[in-house]
Amino acid sequence: MKKIVILPGDGIGKEVTGWAQKALQEVSEFYGLSFVFEEALIGHSAIEAVGNPLPDDTLEACRTADAVLLGAVGHPMYDQDTTLKVRPEQGLLKIRKELGLYANIRPIRIFDELLDASSLKPEVLRGADILFFRELTGGIYFGHRERRDQGNTALDTLLYTRKEIERIAVKAFEAARTRRGILHSVDKANVLESSRLWRETIQQLAVQYPDVTVHHIYVDNAAMQLIKDPRQFDVVVTENMFGDILTDEASQIAGSLGMLPSASIGDKTGLYEPVHGSAPDIAGKGIANPMAAILSAALLLDISFGQKEAADAIIQAVDRVLKRGYRTGDIANAQTPKDKIAGTQAIGEMILHEMHFSHPLI
Ligand code: NAI
Ligand code: MG
Repeated sequence: MKKIVILPGDGIGKEVTGWAQKALQEVSEFYGLSFVFEEALIGHSAIEAVGNPLPDDTLEACRTADAVLLGAVGHPMYDQDTTLKVRPEQGLLKIRKELGLYANIRPIRIFDELLDASSLKPEVLRGADILFFRELTGGIYFGHRERRDQGNTALDTLLYTRKEIERIAVKAFEAARTRRGILHSVDKANVLESSRLWRETIQQLAVQYPDVTVHHIYVDNAAMQLIKDPRQFDVVVTENMFGDILTDEASQIAGSLGMLPSASIGDKTGLYEPVHGSAPDIAGKGIANPMAAILSAALLLDISFGQKEAADAIIQAVDRVLKRGYRTGDIANAQTPKDKIAGTQAIGEMILHEMHFSHPLI
């Protein structure tokens, strides 16, 4: 029996997370998995209900969970008033910290049916399938920073320990081993001392993974190669800031935010969430794309529970709905007359239907 905590959060988070939960329920029956779900508050919804973006009950539920599935947090009132002290995103930052989530994982996969939705040429994109590992709790975003010289000089510190590099690198090597066996480690070792430690650590670990081919690549070149020839990449591992920038760049390969799942993992409970936010511009309209959330459920099965087959069943169901021409507005193409626009519920139901009726056991 595995306990999965569901944190719908705010905005479209509340509209898409239920479909991810239903997808988990649906596969569990076929693969003999037994899940118990517990729902809790986070973000603006939690502030409204109890005045705290991460209530103690929520944190306790997550600490004792086998995995956490999150929607999104955020509400426009905080963007309008930046002086508000209690804010939704504090809930997200705190839960990442409390669960010790040091690796952010983002699969970038292009579904054939959506080749036209990307700004890159279809022939460059076809078959691209990249797994990013971004270090999440170290580096320049967490280093010492200060102002000197009456505020006219500023500094930020980029610090990494060998241990911090090793623990994420091991996850990336292990993943590469189960895929095409190629690992790109991104750094700036020609300039930065922290990058030289990064590269040295990767080189030392590589000895234990003779089945993985390691390429060291400078971050500026990586940014270029990603859009020039994304198919050369399999697994990519990098530090926090480089990863922040490169994963946003790579998200364009997949065409839409509404298609991108992510995982944040540490040594225990993993947290899974779509890359997108609460999308206040479309919240409450029933038109949000639930695929990113549903694909996050697939990632959960794969990474936290090692259920690759069950994960694939979900991914294939999404693929089949796309093949039948159904699209939410964010991925519909005006030039493709066969595209049939559908809302969140219709797409969610179709994915469940595909899972139910095309399962190998039936
Ligand atoms: P966003 O990701 O919420 O929306 C960006 C654009 O993409 C919007 O036009 C939205 O309608 C569209 N979009 C996003 N997901 C979609 C989906 N599933 N289906 C169809 N269209 C989709 O980012 P934005 O607007 O910058 O932020 C809105 C709020 O979300 C803010 O309060 C922000 O702080 C929060 N946020 C939360 C995140 C999280 O919970 N991890 C991540 C990013 C933003
Ligand atoms: Mg970013």
